[in-house]
Amino acid sequence: MKIGVLGSGNMGGQIGRLWAEAGHEVVFSSRNPKKLSSLIENLKNAKAGTVSEAIEFADTILLAINYWTIEEIMDRLRITPKVIIDLTNPYKWTEEGSLQRVIPENISGAETLQNQLKKSTIIKAFSSHQANTLKMHHSLPKIGVLYTCDGESGKSVSEKLIEDAGFEPIYYGNLSRSKDIELFGKFSNKIMTAEEARNEIKK
Ligand SMILES: NC(=O)c1ccc[n+]([C@@H]2O[C@H](COP(=O)([O-])OP(=O)(O)OC[C@H]3O[C@@H](n4cnc5c(N)ncnc54)[C@H](OP(=O)(O)O)[C@@H]3O)[C@@H](O)[C@H]2O)c1
Repeated sequence: MKIGVLGSGNMGGQIGRLWAEAGHEVVFSSRNPKKLSSLIENLKNAKAGTVSEAIEFADTILLAINYWTIEEIMDRLRITPKVIIDLTNPYKWTEEGSLQRVIPENISGAETLQNQLKKSTIIKAFSSHQANTLKMHHSLPKIGVLYTCDGESGKSVSEKLIEDAGFEPIYYGNLSRSKDIELFGKFSNKIMTAEEARNEIKK
């Protein structure tokens, strides 16, 4: 797949690297692409570019920037419908150093994004995992990654990309269930094998 990574930091950098290693073509983006040279070094299928270049290149986007900066790139995301894997959490840091929710309690970040980008396919995944968990890719038994989306096309992309990153994809339901897999949701920071995750969902 042709993947554009928006936000090549703790999360985007690691997941994008796993996809490049699995053979996908990845453009990592930054407001200053030069600083990504060590990330793309030794990655055959990866390049660094601007946010606009990554969006233009990609069929599938990994949205991995801080939630409060999404508005800054929204116009560029609106140009062409994409499949967008959204791992952001709708919080910002206060001056006192605590996390403050920036959208109403009764809606998830993923649904908010889908409302803003009606023609794109939004998938929620990885948002309940800490960056450290990503180092457990390909561990056995595999770590389960829950995802949500509406419609079949998002499902097939999710299944492929979560698996290629070295985790086991588990469909958790429509986008309306995304809050459970965002920060402070039911599955927040829970590291579960795929089997444990399936059992947990049944409860
Ligand atoms: N860290 C975790 O454990 C974790 C876990 C689950 C979910 N998340 C979510 O993942 C998202 C990213 O977290 P992170 O820890 O990976 O953050 P991070 O390491 O700070 O990376 C964020 C990246 O976003 C880019 N960025 C910032 N403002 C931008 C803008 N206006 N336009 C384009 N790019 C911009 C920055 O790249 P440049 O400065 O190079 O442009 C930066 O590398 C957040 O929404 C967070 O809630 C994080």
